[in-house]
Amino acid sequence: MGGLETRLLDTQLAELPSSSPQRNLLMLYVHVPFCHSKCTFCDWVQAIPTKDLLRKPDDSVRQKYITALCKEIEVRGAAHRSAGDIPYVIYWGGGTASSLDEREATAVMEALRTSFDLSEVAEATIECSPDTVDARKLAFFRGLGFNRVSSGVQSFDDTRLRRLGRRHTAAQATRIVHAAREAGFEDVSIDLMSGFPDQEADELARTVDKALELPVNHLSLYSFRPTPGTFMRRRMETSERRDYLRRQQVLFARARRAIDASGLTEYANGYFGKVSPFAAMYFQLRADTVGLGSGAISLVNQQFQSHAKGLLHPYIADPLGFDIDVPAGQDRVLVSLLQAGLAMFDGVPRKDWSYRTGTDLAEVLTRPAIAPLADFLRGRGLIEDDRGIRLPRRQAGLTLIELAFEMAMSQPELV
Ligand SMILES: C[S@@+](CC[C@H](N)C(=O)[O-])C[C@H]1O[C@@H](n2cnc3c(N)ncnc32)[C@H](O)[C@@H]1O
Ligand code: SF4
Repeated sequence: MGGLETRLLDTQLAELPSSSPQRNLLMLYVHVPFCHSKCTFCDWVQAIPTKDLLRKPDDSVRQKYITALCKEIEVRGAAHRSAGDIPYVIYWGGGTASSLDEREATAVMEALRTSFDLSEVAEATIECSPDTVDARKLAFFRGLGFNRVSSGVQSFDDTRLRRLGRRHTAAQATRIVHAAREAGFEDVSIDLMSGFPDQEADELARTVDKALELPVNHLSLYSFRPTPGTFMRRRMETSERRDYLRRQQVLFARARRAIDASGLTEYANGYFGKVSPFAAMYFQLRADTVGLGSGAISLVNQQFQSHAKGLLHPYIADPLGFDIDVPAGQDRVLVSLLQAGLAMFDGVPRKDWSYRTGTDLAEVLTRPAIAPLADFLRGRGLIEDDRGIRLPRRQAGLTLIELAFEMAMSQPELV
């Protein structure tokens, strides 16, 4: 990264707001637990029974889910509105947010509009998969108020896409990017993945080359996490795991070099291009997160709250009840926040950390349950100064891949 890119990045980060006691900002995350297929690698939906994941808009359980989601939005929205909280970013993810039909998406957006004050929202992202949208539907989402599309692509190799269980071709993924631009989206991002167990460097290089020909201003590159419960993990040989981790790191490093050299600057581990306020604010805990829907997590008023992943029916029965509701200062919560925060090359700011979690970062790193992680990170060059903590840019990606890989592999395979 050259001097000019560094300055541009610093300016983008400096322009991002943080919450303050006078002005409490929110990130609104809406979870859509439906897809057109269950991909073999996906660890976002492995807990959702396939029958529920594939429910269509005419299905009565799905209709009840949308009604429950709107109810949660209305009740929690009213409370935040009366507290004067200001949503700054909106992100609809999943699952596949774009699998909502027009009627469902309108109902959810209407509930958000009537319950929260959306007048200061700077970025509204809808996550898509290419098999669920066409030019008309993208224009509809643009009209509904989204200004950013994030499309899962994973690979531009049709054989790979079939093996991943994807329902689209490389050509379809390409068309969707152009269609999003034509529909008037200012910001278009795609997700690619690297490090599938049988992936060769050439295949990944071809995928990256194709991605860089597209009119995207953001790209996310994820190294495959072999999370228990994914079909792909079940087929993995654990005996070869050291070699496999090393290969994953090499593939990721090559792909990131090519993407970074194209002018899409990496600002967080695997995140390239125009800084997404949602990503940066989420990683750096710059605002409270209000997670809406089953499987969504919230970090509000130093409290970590979550609706269990995959449980549509209990959520429908009680969309306002949380399955987990604990202080953000608990060790397990803090470990996941640390891991997320270190993805940002700019690191975890001390001020936002203590404001959001109610803990002191230095104290947290000495806790018995967290000190081994701190030692591991220090061994990888962790920088600790007045501003906060961060990993050296060159080291961050490989360290975080190792961490995610080891955490995934230390969990037993689900039977
Ligand atoms: C919640 S998914 C939604 C994307 C959208 N439904 C689609 O499939 O196009 C977001 C992204 O997470 C990434 N992802 C899913 N499972 C992963 C895993 N096991 N390891 C690493 N990244 C993963 C994929 O790149 C995916 O596009
Ligand atoms: S990658 Fe996307 S479409 Fe595939 S199962 Fe995961 S969320 Fe659904």
